[in-house]
Amino acid sequence: MAVVPPATTREILLSAPPDGLPGPEHFTITRKPVPVPGPGQVVVRNRYFLVFPGLRTLIGGQADGVPLPRIHVGDALFGPAVGEVVAAGPGGPLRPGDTVIHLLGWREHALVAAADCAVLDDVLPDPVAHLSSGSAAYGALTRLAGVRPGDTVFVTGAAGAVGTLAGPVARLLGAGRVIGSTRSPEKAERLRAELGYDAVVVPGSGPIDGQLATAAPDGVDVVLDNVGGETLAAAVRAARRGARCALVGALSGQLSPARDGGSAPAEIDTFRLVNQGISLSGYRGADHPEVTAEWHGRFGDWLRSGEITFPQVRIPGMDDAPRALQELFEGRHFGTVVVELPPS
Ligand SMILES: NC(=O)c1ccc[n+]([C@@H]2O[C@H](COP(=O)([O-])OP(=O)(O)OC[C@H]3O[C@@H](n4cnc5c(N)ncnc54)[C@H](OP(=O)(O)O)[C@@H]3O)[C@@H](O)[C@H]2O)c1
Repeated sequence: MAVVPPATTREILLSAPPDGLPGPEHFTITRKPVPVPGPGQVVVRNRYFLVFPGLRTLIGGQADGVPLPRIHVGDALFGPAVGEVVAAGPGGPLRPGDTVIHLLGWREHALVAAADCAVLDDVLPDPVAHLSSGSAAYGALTRLAGVRPGDTVFVTGAAGAVGTLAGPVARLLGAGRVIGSTRSPEKAERLRAELGYDAVVVPGSGPIDGQLATAAPDGVDVVLDNVGGETLAAAVRAARRGARCALVGALSGQLSPARDGGSAPAEIDTFRLVNQGISLSGYRGADHPEVTAEWHGRFGDWLRSGEITFPQVRIPGMDDAPRALQELFEGRHFGTVVVELPPS
């Protein structure tokens, strides 16, 4: 029996300008007719979409060079999503039944140009793994930091989507000692017990320099930084001669209620960079377009062999998506956070 598509569909809009971090009160779930695809377009029934900190920057930020459009009041939220093509307009390569990834999450049905969708292959064993931010961790560790056998690697923001993969990936790339940071003692314990971090520093539970000196008595060779601010400054103070610091994110500024989400100042001793030959460089996925396919190949192999796990939290249903974003900002989750929608 043919499945009758619904007449209406829901999406999540920014409905009020936040002063500080956005919360559920700044979002509205609205209903509208299911779109009809035109030439070269498809309608995708979303099954999973990513909850990610970059939304704070897109909603409130003034950041230069962010490769995605800002979100204004009245706009639907968006972000990486995986779903099934349920209708295809004439002239495109996609057909109903294709499973695709695209950038119009935060809605049940997305009207997308077929050219903006990528069909999922079976390189990864789980479609949700395509929503992982692990390619940023892998790209930063291989393209910028060049992890060498025996290196001591410090991953800041280790309990998030990037960090929960960065530590295990650094180990698989040959790191000898892997240290993380999180503001949560409970997550610190999970990083050690579940993901094999050798030590975890907890900013806020005591001076970070002392914690780093204990965790890495000989200093660190590589920093994969998701946090910026004082945590990055401390990482530079702990860096050995020739250390490579790959900057992936800046959560300390991005998720600060007192800032606009688009900047993350840090006071770094630049004389130390000079004298110790320490490098600091920023990672943008767009600058390394070949990384995604390479990462998928290795991630798929590591997942199938059991050498790596993919920590994730699945929040069921659209209604709880705004709360999931707030919980991400509050640091309530561990690993990648996705909203899971029913198949029809
Ligand atoms: N360059 C790229 O290509 C690329 C790709 C993906 C992501 N990113 C960026 O990388 C960073 C990490 O992304 P993610 O998805 O892994 O984020 P995430 O860690 O999942 O973000 C949520 C976490 O941020 C931490 N946090 C919240 N407020 C904070 C604050 N004021 N100071 C410090 N930490 C705070 C909390 O961790 P704790 O509770 O554990 O402290 C929370 O669990 C983000 O800045 C993101 O935009 C960059």
